Amino acid sequence: MAITSKSIAPTIIFLLYLISCVSSQQETKFLNHGFLGANLLKFGSSKIHPSGLLELTNTSMRQMGQAFHGFPIPLLNSSNSSVSFSTSFVFAITPGPGSPGHGLAFVISPSMDFSQAFPTNYLGLFNTSNNGNPLNRILAVEFDTVQAVEFNDIDDNHVGIDLNGVVSIESAPAAYFDDREAKNVSLKLASGEPIRVWIEYNATEMMLNVTVAPLDRLKPNLPLLSRKLNLSGIFAEENYIGFSGATGTITSAHLVLGWSFSIEGKASEFDLTKLPSIPDPPTPSSPSPNPPVSVKKDTNNTKLIIILAASATFGLIIMLSFLGVWFFRRNQILVTRGARKFSHQMISNATGGFDNTRLLGERNSGSFYKGQLTPTEIIAVKRITCTTRQQKTTLISEIDAISKIRQRNLVNLLGYCTKGNDICLVYEYVPNGSLDRFLFSNDRPVLTWSDRFCIIKGIASGLQYLHGEGPKPLIHGNVKASNILLDEELNSRLGDYGQGSRHSTTGHVAPELVETGKVTRDTDVYAFGVLMMEIVCGRKAIEPTKPPEEISLVNWVLQGFKNGDLLQRCDARINREELVAREVLLVLKTGLLCANRSAEARPMIKKVFQYLDGLERLPHDDYLFYGV
Ligand SMILES: *[C@@H]1O[C@H](CO)[C@@H](O)[C@H](O)[C@H]1NC(C)=O
Ligand SMILES: *[C@@H]1O[C@H](CO)[C@@H](O)[C@H](O)[C@H]1NC(C)=O
Ligand SMILES: *[C@@H]1O[C@H](CO)[C@@H](O)[C@H](O)[C@H]1NC(C)=O
Ligand SMILES: *[C@@H]1O[C@H](CO)[C@@H](O)[C@H](O)[C@H]1NC(C)=O
Ligand SMILES: *[C@@H]1O[C@H](CO)[C@@H](O)[C@H](O)[C@H]1NC(C)=O
Ligand SMILES: *[C@@H]1O[C@H](CO)[C@@H](O)[C@H](O)[C@H]1NC(C)=O
Ligand SMILES: *[C@@H]1O[C@H](CO)[C@@H](O)[C@H](O)[C@H]1NC(C)=O
Ligand SMILES: *[C@@H]1O[C@H](CO)[C@@H](O)[C@H](O)[C@H]1NC(C)=O
Repeated sequence: MAITSKSIAPTIIFLLYLISCVSSQQETKFLNHGFLGANLLKFGSSKIHPSGLLELTNTSMRQMGQAFHGFPIPLLNSSNSSVSFSTSFVFAITPGPGSPGHGLAFVISPSMDFSQAFPTNYLGLFNTSNNGNPLNRILAVEFDTVQAVEFNDIDDNHVGIDLNGVVSIESAPAAYFDDREAKNVSLKLASGEPIRVWIEYNATEMMLNVTVAPLDRLKPNLPLLSRKLNLSGIFAEENYIGFSGATGTITSAHLVLGWSFSIEGKASEFDLTKLPSIPDPPTPSSPSPNPPVSVKKDTNNTKLIIILAASATFGLIIMLSFLGVWFFRRNQILVTRGARKFSHQMISNATGGFDNTRLLGERNSGSFYKGQLTPTEIIAVKRITCTTRQQKTTLISEIDAISKIRQRNLVNLLGYCTKGNDICLVYEYVPNGSLDRFLFSNDRPVLTWSDRFCIIKGIASGLQYLHGEGPKPLIHGNVKASNILLDEELNSRLGDYGQGSRHSTTGHVAPELVETGKVTRDTDVYAFGVLMMEIVCGRKAIEPTKPPEEISLVNWVLQGFKNGDLLQRCDARINREELVAREVLLVLKTGLLCANRSAEARPMIKKVFQYLDGLERLPHDDYLFYGV
């Protein structure tokens, strides 16, 4: 009998059915040992090592990286109820040179676009404006190695369930249940050792369980976290599942070795011999006490175990001595890193209860007090009263970012304390006060030309440090004379940085800042350009009492430039014999370049520094007219 069309049709239908089974199989169940050839989309700092290891971040600062399974996963059934799922993965966190930061998370999200998210405590998943927003529809399980007090973190080594934001609805210090001993054993997330995680959700029970254990242990009988949770309202029709990791000024490499996932039913078990191994953590000084971690296992080979045990005992004494040195060094680093949290009482005592006689100055952003911490340690305290909870949250997360900054042209932050709506930032005390007093009033000695040139270069250097070269600069947002402090030797120290997007005062505000309200590297450069002119000319950016053509300093300098008498714009109080014409022209022209109305035409601060330092020549004079 010939094949009839009647018999072909069912065959085709059957084939189509098979294909659809295979493809839906791929989308709802997978197992990856390493990620070579895996269907994985990477974002941010994520990359895959030749061994197949997924690296979400390395130990560089303020990085974030995400990686998602290439197909969306349907997590709602036809009646829009969430389905059960189960996933298991193996991760490792290898800290950078200091304490580890910040952590990684397993995430289920309707979108893969996290380009607007923040690193640090936000784990590359949220930012200050969408954190906690129910519209996010994001479920995450975080493995967090930094305690963010403002997010109610319980400690610096915890596992948490996050819904739509980084404030966990449930969390516990990382630990696993030892079934035989019937007790909890704590687990260090950032040990560099592989850790296995099981995340299981039963949609009927509406129960989400999270279990962790070292890779060489079986799954504990009891989960670490168990939470009743209705996920039907959280999941979208299509969801992306994956991981996100982030660093701040403290860093770790965040690594994922393998991942399995399944809808309705258990995620497949790993074959531990197929997982990639973890590379050695970079050790700057003494030899590492951690032997390279290999996850290769041979449970049947008792001989090997005996040999390993013997050699381990043999090497133990040698290792212990290294370990001693290592811990000692580590602890030293730990002590000097991190924002120090002062008690409010201590700061209140140091400032005589924020006594008015200790007031150094008042800004709309807060009041500065002088304080005596110890007989030898003098501090400056900025007291800010937050009007909204959002403001407080933002501020504290910025403190984390700025607390490790140490540069000689910046006023260093020593720590902070909070009480109610008040936040006090504790800075080192810079004795000579702020630059505006020197420039715009007659109660301080007149700054010589060489003082001024040196102050300008100092500010450029501090600003260059803040802006960095990475994708996540610290924007100062308020570059002006009253935020420049002078030390004993009249070196300039840039203060009040890293406190969110505040606007500077009139005259320093770049045109686009007025329109967008968004501070950027470019708006900082604009403000610095105006400040340079103020320092040279000894007058404020805007002086309404002057004749019309002189009200705006930028215009007045520009007119001087066009008329060829730029030198006449120099502060009349500076001794003329002391002036170095070449330097004055250099600074004023650089100032005009920076104060260009068009943000794109302004140089980067690095370039500005090179102009001022004579390492780079200024563009041709004609260029300065354009767009100022
Ligand atoms: C981290 O990765 C970036 C980009 O690949 C690289 O430039 C940087 O040097 C790396 N940092 C470390 C500490 O390896
Ligand atoms: C499920 O949700 C989708 C989108 O919100 C809606 O179009 C559909 O009617 C819902 N189905 C049921 C059975 O409620
Ligand atoms: C936060 O992220 C959202 C969406 O991802 C974006 O629209 C918003 O502008 C971001 N906010 C900030 C402060 O970056
Ligand atoms: C172990 O830890 C879990 C989660 O923190 C806790 O609920 C449980 O009571 C602990 N069990 C024991 C035996 O300590
Ligand atoms: C979650 O853990 C509880 C307590 O051990 C257990 O009774 C329940 O079956 C678990 N559910 C899932 C989905 O694993
Ligand atoms: C969810 O829990 C119910 C009731 O305890 C059980 O019958 C069912 O098998 C569980 N489903 C999964 C996927 O574990
Ligand atoms: C969807 O899931 C819910 C909860 O598990 C269940 O009660 C319902 O019967 C399911 N609907 C369909 C059409 O499978
Ligand atoms: C779970 O949430 C969905 C959507 O928000 C809601 O329709 C449903 O009634 C909830 N189920 C239970 C048992 O509360």
